[in-house]
Amino acid sequence: MVDTTAVIAQMRQLIQILAKHNHAYYVMDQPTISDSEYDHLFHQLKALEQQYPELVQQDTPTQKVGGQALSKFESVTHAVPMLSLGNVFNQEDLFAFARRVEERLPNQEILYDVELKLDGLAISLWYEHGVLVRGVTRGDGETGEDITQNVKTIRNLPKFLYSTDIKIPELLEVRGEVLMPKSGFEKLNADQQARGEKTFANPRNAAAGSLRQLDPEIAASRPLAFYAYGIAQCEPQHNLVSMHESLIWLTKIGFEIAERQFLCQSIQEVQEKYQQIQQERPDLSVEIDGMVIKVDSLKQQQQLGFLSREPRWATAYKFPAVAALTTVDQIDWQVGRTGILTPVARLNPVFVGGVTVSNVTLHNIGEIHRLDVRVGDTVSVYRTGDVIPKVEKVWPEFRPNDAVEIVLPSQCPVCDSPVVMPEGEALARCSGGLYCAAQRIEAIRHFVSRKALDIEGLGDRWVESLLHLNLLNDVSDIYQLHQHRETMLGIEKMGEKSVQNLFDAIDASKKTTLARFIYALGIRGVGETTARMLANTFQTFDALRQADIETLKKTPDVGDITAEWIVDFFQAQHNIEVVERLLDAGLTWDAPTAPTRQPLNGESWVLTGTLQQFTRDQATQMLQALGARVSGSVSSKTKCVVAGEKAGSKLEKAEKLGIQVMSESEFLTLMAEYGQQVIPE
Ligand code: IVH
Repeated sequence: MVDTTAVIAQMRQLIQILAKHNHAYYVMDQPTISDSEYDHLFHQLKALEQQYPELVQQDTPTQKVGGQALSKFESVTHAVPMLSLGNVFNQEDLFAFARRVEERLPNQEILYDVELKLDGLAISLWYEHGVLVRGVTRGDGETGEDITQNVKTIRNLPKFLYSTDIKIPELLEVRGEVLMPKSGFEKLNADQQARGEKTFANPRNAAAGSLRQLDPEIAASRPLAFYAYGIAQCEPQHNLVSMHESLIWLTKIGFEIAERQFLCQSIQEVQEKYQQIQQERPDLSVEIDGMVIKVDSLKQQQQLGFLSREPRWATAYKFPAVAALTTVDQIDWQVGRTGILTPVARLNPVFVGGVTVSNVTLHNIGEIHRLDVRVGDTVSVYRTGDVIPKVEKVWPEFRPNDAVEIVLPSQCPVCDSPVVMPEGEALARCSGGLYCAAQRIEAIRHFVSRKALDIEGLGDRWVESLLHLNLLNDVSDIYQLHQHRETMLGIEKMGEKSVQNLFDAIDASKKTTLARFIYALGIRGVGETTARMLANTFQTFDALRQADIETLKKTPDVGDITAEWIVDFFQAQHNIEVVERLLDAGLTWDAPTAPTRQPLNGESWVLTGTLQQFTRDQATQMLQALGARVSGSVSSKTKCVVAGEKAGSKLEKAEKLGIQVMSESEFLTLMAEYGQQVIPE
């Protein structure tokens, strides 16, 4: 006879662990276990479910909960209205709140529960016999919107309540806040920006936008979190006596609560917590806009009752304003090391949340359009807990007649090269490449790096001194440095020997490969692999620099966008000149030997573990020469895994998926059969 309780307990435990790790991975952006450990637990759960299909739990992650996109949300009337809170802003107001409470509860001991005031959206969750049946927004407090499908996608929100020692109520309505943790928000915005989609001004807007998605698939892709802070209904009645106890009880049946919570013996202690929380605010994983003080005893709460739309037993203690009004004096476009142009608003200095803010980034031209900000406009500057100021809102009613619209400059403010912004892209770039001073240091670092021309002696210290002396205006100047031996000897601490070593290294770098040279130019989208493919495909540098988009696209690894970037690069006058000077300096390479046979064409290979007989780069070169691609992760599409010593999760995964695994020696034998040898580095 199977002990079903034990099986269910085991399933519940696995579900909880998986949910916790999913949350850490997707929402907090801080994985706590490796992929292979996660897979292992996942498969353990799946195996249990296959063995006991009748015991499969409703909220199992093995069966993806999805839903149809809605055309609109249904309205739902709250059984218990969702009230708001009164506010206090200083110690005096806080003590006045306490006096009002004390007057109504004479001669009683009063404890205060202090919670974070989470800056997200309040929602209500209904559970029937422990199963989540409905999630509703606060709306106007009386009526909200049914967002059940979306709340079901929130990873740390329990879809099913379970406890070994607590009897789950028949009906439970829990209230709490949906938020987007700061880390998830940063990542979402970075992803949105990379995809050329709109970014969100702050985590609260991002959370609100995500919860109101009609398509739960989109909501599911957003890193949202739920923190419980109260019980609105419970049948049969629970026997909890305090707020503090209620919160602990909620955690026991599966809810997460905010990361700080205090029980204070006096209102003075509450004031101390206010200072403490304000200090700790930047370290919290979520945004807060103050704290909430609640009379801890539920009986006392009942005695105190409500005042129109607010409870008498609770209040919000808000942090000082983190938004302030000021005007935009000017916009400067900064050119980053990769050529990206970032608009920076110069503001009439304003004091916001403890610091003076006079500059604020507007990120990109899309953000300028979204805000519709102009020079001369009055704007609200907002400072989040992370100190980074942002323009939150423009006040068109204060717009002066001479406000100036902001346009993307057509030329780079540093080097005058044309600014480019391809269709569908969010970021504008300077096309100056190697020529642009702002990009020069980075371009030089890249040019001399190990996988490019590998000039080891030309480290950052040299580069900075030489830039300073105007001896390195672009990478081609590297090969003219010998003319400046005297000046270089004059550089502090640069002795005869180190200068000579540098010249030798520069000389040695002139003999290179076509692939390295192409990679060294730092053409956007052309990494090491693409450079190798281009060298193999075009064979000569001339053929590459004359190629049109269509021809370039025939190269494996080169798509529409990269092809366009390559053409842009070779059309820019500055690049033409720099490349000419490099060739004149005597850079040479042998014609690449095009592999005649590509027996591994299109195959995906994975290298893992510590490799003894060859390096990862060498193996990659051999595989690529035979037409294979080298990938960083194992999937069902992987053809073969080459496993060195101490191979871990990738090897495990390959074995689980039944993918061919080779030792180093087997690999070398196979390579030799195909005529490939390890090329010394
Ligand atoms: S309790 C009757 N606790 O504050 C008391 N609210 O103005 C109801 N909020 O919209 C609220 N953190 O979204 C409570 N720890 C917390 C909270 C909190 C944030 C928000 C909530 C509500 C607003 C009330």
